[in-house]
Amino acid sequence: RKKIAVMTSGGDSAGMNAVVRAVVRMSIHLDCDIFCVYEGYEGLVRGGNYIRQMGWEDVRGYLSEGGTLIGTARCMAFYERPGRLQAAKNMVLNGIDALIICGGDGSLTGADRFRSEWPSLIEELVSKGDFKQEQVEPYKHLNIVGLVGSIDNDLSGTDATIGAYSALSRICEMVDYIEATASSHSRAFVIEVMGRHCGWLALMAAVATGADFLFIPEKPREDNWREEMCKVIREHRNLGKRKTIVIIAEGALDKHGVKISPSMVKDLLADKDGLGLDTRITTLGHVQRGGSAVAYDRMLATLQGVEAVKAVLEATPETETCFIAITENKITRKPLMAAVKETKEVATLIEAQRFNEAMALRDTE
Ligand code: F6P
Repeated sequence: RKKIAVMTSGGDSAGMNAVVRAVVRMSIHLDCDIFCVYEGYEGLVRGGNYIRQMGWEDVRGYLSEGGTLIGTARCMAFYERPGRLQAAKNMVLNGIDALIICGGDGSLTGADRFRSEWPSLIEELVSKGDFKQEQVEPYKHLNIVGLVGSIDNDLSGTDATIGAYSALSRICEMVDYIEATASSHSRAFVIEVMGRHCGWLALMAAVATGADFLFIPEKPREDNWREEMCKVIREHRNLGKRKTIVIIAEGALDKHGVKISPSMVKDLLADKDGLGLDTRITTLGHVQRGGSAVAYDRMLATLQGVEAVKAVLEATPETETCFIAITENKITRKPLMAAVKETKEVATLIEAQRFNEAMALRDTE
C-alpha cells in the first residue's frame, strides 16, 4: 500500500484544513495509507508522534475550521542538511515516500530542495548504518506535490492562492464597519492591511470598498505622492464625501524604496495647514488570517487537495515537482520552480493600472 503524508507549512491561511481533509479522504478513497505531519517541517524532523496515520473520521468538521489544525511552525533545523537527513529517516521509518505540502513559496521551495536531495540523503542513511540497502530499496525517490496556501495571493501561475479570498472578505467586512463610524464623525481612516511583498490584498480591498487612496509595494509612489493624495481627497471632500478611507499595504514604498507608513499618511491627512482631517489609524493585523474560510477557499482547497493526491501518485522520478494551480477556473498541475521564479508583481502591476479605471467609479456623493 502506498503511504502518503500531508502537512501545512509557513503562515497559516483559511482553507488549509479543507486541504488536509480532502487529501486524507481522497488518499483513503484510493486505498492508500495517509499520514499527517504535525507542526510542518518541525514535525518531519522530530518524527515520532508528530507523524500520525489518519482515518476518514479524523478530519470530520475540518471544512469550517480556520487556521491549520495540524499546526505549522518555522523550522530552522530543516534549513540544514542534518535536519533534512533526520526528516528523511523519519519518513522511511514510516514507509512514506510521497509528500503533499500546503504552504507559501518559501515552504514549497524547501520541499523541492528536499526532493532533489533525497537520493543522497538515503545513501547517507545507509552508509551511517541507519538502514540496510534492501530496506531503502522501495524509497529511492521522493515525490512531492505543492498546494499554495497564502493569504497574500503572491505566487505566479495561479489565479488564487488558498486563503486569499477569505482574507479579502474579512478586510472588506472590517472596512465596512470602519466606514460607518468614519462617516458618523466625518473622519479619515488609514487602514493597514497585510502584504509584506505583495499588494494584492490591499489593491483588491481598495477596489471592493471604493477606497479614496491606496499604497502598494508594486507601485512605488512618486515624490509628489503627498500632493497627489491631498488633491484627490480634497476633491472628494468638496463633493460632499463625509468619510475618507486610505488603504495601505504593510510593504508600501516610495520610488526610493523608503517605506510609507500609516503614521506618515495620517500626519498628512491631519495637518492643520492642509486637509486638517480628524484621522485614525487601524491596523487590521491577524484578523485577516484567522477565521473560517469563505466558500471559494473551501471549494478551491477541496478540488486542489483531490488533484494533489492524484498528482503525487502519478509522479515519477523524471517529472518535475509540480504544484496545483487554478487557471481560468480550471484546476491544473504546473511546474513549481518556474512559478516560484516568477513574481506576482507583474500581474499586480497590471491590476494596478486597472485600479485607476476602477477608481473613476468611486462614490463621491
Ligand atoms: O502570510 C503572509 C503574511 O500574511 C504577510 O502578509 C505578513 O506580513 C506576514 O504573513 C505576517 O506573518 P507573521 O505574523 O506570522 O510573521
